Amino acid sequence: MMHLLSISDLEYGDILKLLDLAAELKKNRGQSAYPLKNTSLAMIFEKPSTRTRISLEVAMAELGGHAMYLNAGDLQLGRSETICDTARVLSRYVHAITARVYHHETVCELAKCARIPVINALSDLEHPCQLLADLLTIRERKGDFEGLCIAWIGDGNNVCNSLILASAITKMKLNVACPAGYEPDSGILSRARALGCDVMVTHDPIEAATGADVLYTDVWVSMGDEKEEKKRLQDFTGFQIDEKLLDHANPDCIVLHCLPAHRGQEISGVVLDGPHSVVLDQAENRLHTEKALLMIALGLD
Ligand code: CP
Ligand code: NVA
Repeated sequence: MMHLLSISDLEYGDILKLLDLAAELKKNRGQSAYPLKNTSLAMIFEKPSTRTRISLEVAMAELGGHAMYLNAGDLQLGRSETICDTARVLSRYVHAITARVYHHETVCELAKCARIPVINALSDLEHPCQLLADLLTIRERKGDFEGLCIAWIGDGNNVCNSLILASAITKMKLNVACPAGYEPDSGILSRARALGCDVMVTHDPIEAATGADVLYTDVWVSMGDEKEEKKRLQDFTGFQIDEKLLDHANPDCIVLHCLPAHRGQEISGVVLDGPHSVVLDQAENRLHTEKALLMIALGLD
């Protein structure tokens, strides 16, 4: 693997190998032999982050490497140096780049010009690092992917797009319930269906949640959508994961949320903090899967 721009840059076998390594690193945390000694990571952020920034930084530190937080606005990139020149220069200093960007094209342009691996740390189109942690969390709780039914309730956003592709790769059945006008990316849906993904898109949360093994949601207003906040809060009424919706899922259903969460909007506080929720495992697993990802991307696994 050279770059991780989309979760579909990984095949099923790559994902299983990465999850196995992540599970091993999780089990043996604190006993690392520092495989990333003398390795540096440039982390470009155009948007805020808690989990992604901290998990990547701790991952590099625990593996013996060094991570640099780079606020895009503080780079010459913010003063019109080109994305391509930035990628070419960083390639002379560091061993990998992660980038959280507004426009997916930015991370693609970085990858096109870089001589080192570029990892998408969230764009408007996808959030592949999140999906790696989600898949580890699902596997820890459910054992296997095939035959599982996942229901996404809410916005057909970047996390949803990566979930669609991840479900296609791992052969999980996926039901997406979103308000009209907030459907997932049509190109992503076509790619997933071409891979044989059993994905249903509906405007009815109950139809999507019925019989689900996993319920997953995310914010109604993603970073970059703030101008639409008022309209979105109205449009998403009825798309909350609450106890009533949970009743339609399987009794041993787990609830995922990539966080940050807004209790009372996309999810009720009772469900987010309740017994079905695995959101803190999910957040922790960002660390273990990103360690595995960095080792594999740098050829040090
Ligand atoms: N889930 C996630 O990517 O969180 P942050 O925005 O805090 O990085
Ligand atoms: N869809 C959200 C995910 C945050 C981790 C956003 O893009 O803001």
